[in-house]
Amino acid sequence: MESISFLLNGERVEALVEKRLTLLKFLRENRRLTGTKCGCGTGDCGACMVLVDGEAVTSCNLPAFRADGREVTTIEGFAAPDGSLHPIQRAFVESGAVQCGFCTPGMVVRTAALLSKNPDPSEDEIRAALSKNICRCTGYVKIVEAVQLAARLMADKSPADARPAN
Ligand code: FES
Ligand code: FES
Repeated sequence: MESISFLLNGERVEALVEKRLTLLKFLRENRRLTGTKCGCGTGDCGACMVLVDGEAVTSCNLPAFRADGREVTTIEGFAAPDGSLHPIQRAFVESGAVQCGFCTPGMVVRTAALLSKNPDPSEDEIRAALSKNICRCTGYVKIVEAVQLAARLMADKSPADARPAN
């Protein structure tokens, strides 16, 4: 067992975890944060993406003990405490980029990581950034439009307002 301590959506989490436990299982089964999805379990679909120190990573192939000392943000950390959606979430809703929604948490997380580094990405840059996120429903056009709208919405916000809620 490994003793871990890290920030999860702004709150300190301390736990004992088995070395083989993935961060995805820890989030879903230990913390009941089921917004992060398991699509493939092998690092290939992006449904399980979370932010670790601001980088989008697949949590299905990341051992939970690797979160020790880091800052992790899941999709549950995006909306404000009063429930109002983060601009990226709003953009996905308003653009019609959500169908079954299974890929959406990973898409939102990946978009947050992209826009934090590149606030005004081209369509090619958006498609490249989302190349590891698979959607079986939308055909991606609406998702690209959502990222473009998110960039515009976040440009209208102060950096503090546009950050994930934690
Ligand atoms: S469930 Fe992790 S990449 Fe598919
Ligand atoms: S909306 Fe269904 S997988 Fe993307």
